Amino acid sequence: MSGFLQDKAIVVTGGGSGIGRAIALGCAAEGARIVVADLGVSLSGEDPTSEVADAVVKEIEALGGEAVAVAEDVATMTGGQRIVGAAVEAWGRIDGAVCVAGILRERMLFKMSEDEWDAVIRVHLKGHFTVFRHAAEVMREQKSGSLVGITSGAFTGSVAQANYASAKGGIVSLVRSAAVGMYRYGVRANAIAPIARTRMSANVPMELAEMGDPEDIAPMAAYLLSDASKDVTGQVYTVVGGKIAVWNQPVEVRSMKTEGRWTPEQIAERFAEVGVEKMGLIDQLESIRQAATSGEKPNA
Ligand SMILES: NC(=O)c1ccc[n+]([C@@H]2O[C@H](COP(=O)([O-])OP(=O)(O)OC[C@H]3O[C@@H](n4cnc5c(N)ncnc54)[C@H](O)[C@@H]3O)[C@@H](O)[C@H]2O)c1
Repeated sequence: MSGFLQDKAIVVTGGGSGIGRAIALGCAAEGARIVVADLGVSLSGEDPTSEVADAVVKEIEALGGEAVAVAEDVATMTGGQRIVGAAVEAWGRIDGAVCVAGILRERMLFKMSEDEWDAVIRVHLKGHFTVFRHAAEVMREQKSGSLVGITSGAFTGSVAQANYASAKGGIVSLVRSAAVGMYRYGVRANAIAPIARTRMSANVPMELAEMGDPEDIAPMAAYLLSDASKDVTGQVYTVVGGKIAVWNQPVEVRSMKTEGRWTPEQIAERFAEVGVEKMGLIDQLESIRQAATSGEKPNA
């Protein structure tokens, strides 16, 4: 019997726990050979251990699959190179890369330290770049490959996570850039915005209207890595429980023009012609704040 990803060589960063582990196991169950790349760090990115990646490799092997562990930091160029290199060394190719590694350092913008900003941007955004960059080099030669980024609905803005939201927005732009830069080489790039019960989502201070398990994310990752999605590129999909949703492509919605250059006074006079696009997040936060002050556990 052949699986949906039979014999494909797939790299999963952050493959040692949570959503990454579920994707690694799910893809292995579909016949893929997996590089489980995980530094085995805490939620804030500390205390690395190779045991986390090793444990998932053992789980895959116990189920009759093939996998190798790499305990490298995704945020270094050598890390990205070694992670991609592990697939090429073991199986002579890389068919897909899913970048799931991530950390959190929550803080309000007015209190966030440089280290909190840098740490989150480097693991999420640079951690995608290092792997995408090295994978793209091999995939360009192969004339095939699928890159999958992991973003978050937080890319639209987040109260106490300017670092995380910015990294996740950057990942969307990186995915879009990979899609436009690589399509003529047969290489695709898409992003998943997952929601799932893991240690990372455990401390969200509100009742989330949508929630699911890490195992719910794996089938969509497998689909995006497979030949069945060969015409799909440059897309962002929310995946939660039994729901899959596609995000729109950002476009200008209204414009106004003047002869020559605007003055601030002219803009003020005619501003309603472009106006504003509603930022639903602020309204949502207001109702959460009101619910919280009245003692209820707010819904979001
Ligand atoms: N859980 C959710 O609801 C949710 C929502 C939106 C986005 N996400 C995203 O999904 C991804 C996975 O999150 P999760 O909830 O499974 O978290 P998790 O903490 O369970 O897993 C993250 C994994 O990344 C690894 N990692 C961290 N830094 C690393 C580094 N520098 N190099 C290599 N590995 C490293 C950790 O060791 C860990 O195994 C993250 O990118 C997260 O932002 C999760």
